[in-house]
Amino acid sequence: MNGLKTASKEQIEQHIKALSRFTATPGQGTTRLSYSQEDLQARTYLIEKMREYGLQVREDGFGNIFGKLEGSIPEAPSVLIGSHFDSVPNGGDYDGPAGVVAALEVARLFFENGLKPKYPLEIVALVEEEGARFGGGLMGSRGITGLLDEEGFRQLKDKNGITAEEAMKKIGLDPALPKARDPKTMKAFLELHIEQGPILEEKNIPIGVVEAIVGLTQLEVTVKGQAGHAGTTPMDRRADALVAASKIIAELPELASKAGHGTVATVGRLNVFPNGANVIPDEVVFSVDIRSGHEEHVQHAVAKTKELVQSVAAGGIQTSVKQLLYMKPKALNEGIISLFKQLSEKKGLEHTPINSGAGHDAMVFSDFTDVGMLFIPSKNGLSHCPEEWSDSEHIASAAEIFYEGAKHLTEVEQS
Ligand code: GLV
Ligand code: MN
Ligand code: MN
Repeated sequence: MNGLKTASKEQIEQHIKALSRFTATPGQGTTRLSYSQEDLQARTYLIEKMREYGLQVREDGFGNIFGKLEGSIPEAPSVLIGSHFDSVPNGGDYDGPAGVVAALEVARLFFENGLKPKYPLEIVALVEEEGARFGGGLMGSRGITGLLDEEGFRQLKDKNGITAEEAMKKIGLDPALPKARDPKTMKAFLELHIEQGPILEEKNIPIGVVEAIVGLTQLEVTVKGQAGHAGTTPMDRRADALVAASKIIAELPELASKAGHGTVATVGRLNVFPNGANVIPDEVVFSVDIRSGHEEHVQHAVAKTKELVQSVAAGGIQTSVKQLLYMKPKALNEGIISLFKQLSEKKGLEHTPINSGAGHDAMVFSDFTDVGMLFIPSKNGLSHCPEEWSDSEHIASAAEIFYEGAKHLTEVEQS
């Protein structure tokens, strides 16, 4: 041995455990909404660790966190490594944090092994990837790349009407800080993520080299009717927004199946107003998440959903559809894919090509810089639930590949 440090499973477990404590639903999974107290606790932890590993830390006007190790070439673009640290409601400890923690581990290895890169290394911890608070999703990466501009950001509100700016200020963040960054400041973006599906576990393969990410869209459907008394309004005199919304929702599974090629559609969020047991609902707002590996199938399913929504607008019911997010399917960088394959082989790690059915910040960055992504197995294929679990040994293996990959991409001068 040359005495150089390697990725530590124990260190990784410690970070995952520490972050898992920052949840609004202890005992019922991780609920860490953007700009909540739990977000503040997690970011305080991450910033402290980044500083401990010798990184210069800054936050941007969205609250994304960057920890930078300068390179020797002045003004050179950075190799970014990271993922998101928000969660879905009652989610798991690994979706997002696994990638942030692997990135931290790379920073620790650069620091403890005294590496001096030519190009800067930047560890990134991104906000609001899930869209669980402000809708849409991929907000941190869309903000960095300018796909979400100042004006679009200013309009974001959570379900209680609190704007993203107000929420940021409440935990001491500054929305006036710089937001988008010039793509020329980025040399590459690497993201590790749990697979969130069963393939790697079933094949007993520790590393999935992601080749493509599914295309996806998120619609927000609003159905308006007339509120009234649940006891005194005859059935034929009602404009019940929830009954109309239910007709739409019940048709979506068939609509998705007919769109073909594994197209999927999900209604995961639904708000009923005024939400009283003895009041006829006058408004229902719900999300429709549609995905496919083929862009034309996403577009077809969106057009069909719009027709379906329109079809219930009669007899006092009005409907509207907003598109909160649209991302084409993305192919990842071939050079980085082959680098990951070579490095896995060098380390004796079995690997397989894989496609992602989940959306990731990596897909946003892929239009602006060279992007590579690795997956590790998910226990029982489960994710977005408290049972989500991945082996820290696998995170450590992926962190080793990223470490070697980052040494190559930042052109380390001394090791
Ligand atoms: C993120 O988890 C997504 O795929 O929506
Ligand atoms: Mn997720
Ligand atoms: Mn994720």
